[in-house]
Formats: sequence, structure tokens, C-alpha cells
Amino acid sequence: MTNYILKEGDSSLAPILVLHSTGGDEHQLVPLAEELFPNHPFLSIRGRISEQGINRYFKLKGPGFTKENFDLVSLEKEAQWLTKEVERLGQHYQLNLSKLNVIGYSNGANMALYMQLKGLFKFEKILAFHAMQLTEVGRPVLSDESKVFLTHADNDPIVSRENLEELSTDLEKTKCQLEIFKAKFGHQLSDEEISAAKKWLAK
Ligand code: MLT
Repeated sequence: MTNYILKEGDSSLAPILVLHSTGGDEHQLVPLAEELFPNHPFLSIRGRISEQGINRYFKLKGPGFTKENFDLVSLEKEAQWLTKEVERLGQHYQLNLSKLNVIGYSNGANMALYMQLKGLFKFEKILAFHAMQLTEVGRPVLSDESKVFLTHADNDPIVSRENLEELSTDLEKTKCQLEIFKAKFGHQLSDEEISAAKKWLAK
């Protein structure tokens, strides 16, 4: 059973996929989705991995959010699952998936970018708060009309500056329009980056 929230919203507006962080759920980013995209339809889906009661979009092999601990088999399997669920639920609720945007924070942002880079899904706009490169994507799939808003803080204890550079390099290969916002508060989702995201959306 998939845990999700669907808000119907105004069907003439682009639908939004909402993906939570590690330990969050489908409710976590609903206020953010409503703030950034008022009246838009949205679909918020909970990751189906639960590790000691902590929800995620793919498994870890050990403690700590390091590349060695990311279970890449699970990542691929869960990315396929999530793609199918987005398509299934999107069709069921008649969402215009060709216009789908995504908001993701941390684990959810990582999953959204992985889906995009691997060509599983083509999002129009991606708001990726505190995302990181999970694994090298040799040849990211071209998505030259996509727009990506990425946030990072130099004092982030999870995402290093080197990792941000690796992720940016992958994204630049896709020719998407990338904007990186430098936040100040580690891995936290802060008011300043939400304001910056609003400005970016208003451009
Ligand atoms: C997280 O906090 O979840 C990290 O960004 C890494 C991950 O995707 O596991």
C-alpha cells in the first residue's frame, strides 16, 4: 500500500510531486508545497523503506549518509517503483504529468534528481533542498528544458562542498538551467532558502 496525499487544486496549474526527507512522511512538506505553489494540485508520496521506523526512499547499508552506505540496488529499485507510482496515481487523478514539478528535501531531493538524471522521469522544475550526489551518473540524460533550484550550505554536515561540485557537474551535463542557493544553516530547510525559492519561481 502506498501512503500518499493528493490535493486536487486547480487542474489548469502544473502539478507538484512532493518528496520528504529521511524520517519525514507525506505530511512533512505539505505546508511548503502550499506556500511555494498555492492552488496547484500536488501529490506527496511516502518512501516505502522504513528503517527502524524511519521512512526513506531507498535503503542504507550502514549508519551514516555516505556514498559507501547508499544501497544502489535499492536506489534503482525504489526509483523504478516511485516512477510507476507517480504515473499510476497521476493517471488516476488526471494530473498533467508532462508539466510535473517536484519539491524534495534531502533524501527526497536526492531521489528526484536521481530519477531525472537517469531519465526515469522528466520534471519541468526541480526544487532540491540540500541534495547530494548519491552515485556517479556516467551519462546523465539530457533534459535541456528543465530548471533546477538546488540549495547547499558550506557548513552542511552531510553534503560536502566536493559532493555539491560532483552533483552540479552531473546536472550541468544535462544542460538544465541550474541555480544554486547558498544557505547558512547546515542541512536545515531554512526560511531564507524558501524565500529564495519563491523568487526563483517568480522569475
Ligand atoms: C539524507 O539526509 O537523507 C541524505 O541527504 C542522504 C540520503 O539520501 O540518504
